[in-house]
Amino acid sequence: MYFEFVRGPRRARVRICSAPRMRLEGRKALVTGGASGIGAAIARRLAAEAASVVIGDLNTEGAGKVANEVGGEAVGLDVTEVASAAAVVEQLGPFEILVNNAGTDEFGFFTQTDPEMWERVIAVNLKGVLACTHAVLPGMQELGYGRIVSIASEAGRVGSKGSAVYSAAKGGVIAFTKTIARENARFGITANAIAPGPIDTPLLRRATELGEIGDRVIEKMTDATQLRRLGEPEEVAAAVAFLVSDEASYVTGETLGVSGGLGMV
Ligand code: NAI
Repeated sequence: MYFEFVRGPRRARVRICSAPRMRLEGRKALVTGGASGIGAAIARRLAAEAASVVIGDLNTEGAGKVANEVGGEAVGLDVTEVASAAAVVEQLGPFEILVNNAGTDEFGFFTQTDPEMWERVIAVNLKGVLACTHAVLPGMQELGYGRIVSIASEAGRVGSKGSAVYSAAKGGVIAFTKTIARENARFGITANAIAPGPIDTPLLRRATELGEIGDRVIEKMTDATQLRRLGEPEEVAAAVAFLVSDEASYVTGETLGVSGGLGMV
């Protein structure tokens, strides 16, 4: 089973196709934050391409539901805890594929934030990527093979009003990815980042809790894309599936925008 997109002018719909495409057969993947939104779509897509998928999330109930659906495994994981990431890899690794997807944001202008908020946002979005990558790399180096994809954001390349700390963390993920790519090429490991634009998920919808301002933020983000629409989680998952497959064997250190043209220079 695999997914195809039927593109309309405003909206992409997903069509589930029955012909098998087994690009990831024999690969074991850890998807962090796979209980919701983009991570759940990634877990579904990798499983559809025959990967064996482990969904690591703080939300163990949600992770369990996605795991049941895709025939994968769910595990409690807090990416902000180095020991938690290490324990998951020790228990269920080694992994050929790591998708650093877990992320969060707390919207608000920078002057309204405080150091506790900086700590929380950087802990998940940047340190979480460090912790999981640190945990999987030794196993990948031993295997002589690895695919690491980190979900950054266009905010990490062009900035995003109301998300200064998040943008800083995502920019850090992009720079970190390049260095991991440089250090690990000799082990057969590639590392790439994806920079999504506004994707219709619970995280984005949380902006609407800000009321009218939140609605305007989403409207402005949509207008900033060339395609003039929000993206779908499955559109990010399709890019991940490519980057973790052998078809992307000569792609490393890159940041692929999946943002309807929002981030193009
Ligand atoms: P979401 O809120 O729907 O899902 C995030 C998942 O991460 C949840 O299941 C949550 O439980 C999990 N999570 C949060 N903190 C965690 C922790 N400490 N340890 C383990 N799991 C944790 O969000 P969404 O939109 O699916 O975001 C996925 C990724 O995509 C994030 O890295 C986000 O920054 C990024 N992204 C999202 C965009 C959007 O417009 N939705 C745009 C650009 C990037």
